[in-house]
Amino acid sequence: MISPSLLSANFANLEAEMKWFNQSCADWLHIDVMDGVFVPNISFGFPVLKHVARICRKPLDVHLMIVQPEKFVNEVKALGAYLMNVHYEACTHLHRVVGQIHEAGMKAGVTLNPATPVCVLEDIAADVDLVLLMSVNPGFGGQKFIPHTLEKVKELRRLLDRTGSRALIEVDGGVNLETGRQLKAAGADVLVAGSYIFSAPDPSRACELLSGL
Ligand code: DX5
Ligand code: ZN
Repeated sequence: MISPSLLSANFANLEAEMKWFNQSCADWLHIDVMDGVFVPNISFGFPVLKHVARICRKPLDVHLMIVQPEKFVNEVKALGAYLMNVHYEACTHLHRVVGQIHEAGMKAGVTLNPATPVCVLEDIAADVDLVLLMSVNPGFGGQKFIPHTLEKVKELRRLLDRTGSRALIEVDGGVNLETGRQLKAAGADVLVAGSYIFSAPDPSRACELLSGL
């Protein structure tokens, strides 16, 4: 599956972006929320996303790069989000947060930074619907893919099998046709792509190419 990242869209014309996006083969819309604390950047917040959610016709895959993400479960729910991704590194009580996301009627995803090993998921894997592996340090679009992520995808696949988890594996950062192909071969289910899709002369076509890998 493909989840294009809104972070690389033209913010001055989000309506036009949603037009091609709604008709494209994209599966989800990936939404990167940043707070300038958990990551060294600020993107957009709920007042903007409310309008994007209104015109987006595909499930929202919300990636919160913020401290204390549990404070915003209701706001993410109000967007009508399908999936709420929280960072492992941002949650002291991850099990509780996953429960809160489920109670709110959303799928729960846990995200790992590049330096966080897959093994920390051993005791939570069976409770989550998706694991998002960061293949760049979060905060910015257009960064270079960290090749070690390929090993992490394989290791995560083994951990999910061992723990009886049915969680999907999503990868985010530096995804293009080359890294996308490698990630798929390693066992990734969902590819997030920002600059590769939105900077392409024909974003819809770029999405098709990734989707066809
Ligand atoms: C990075 C974000 C990514 C970003 C990916 O902090 O989580 O979703 O938009 O952008 P690309 O695909 O350009 O690396
Ligand atoms: Zn993201």
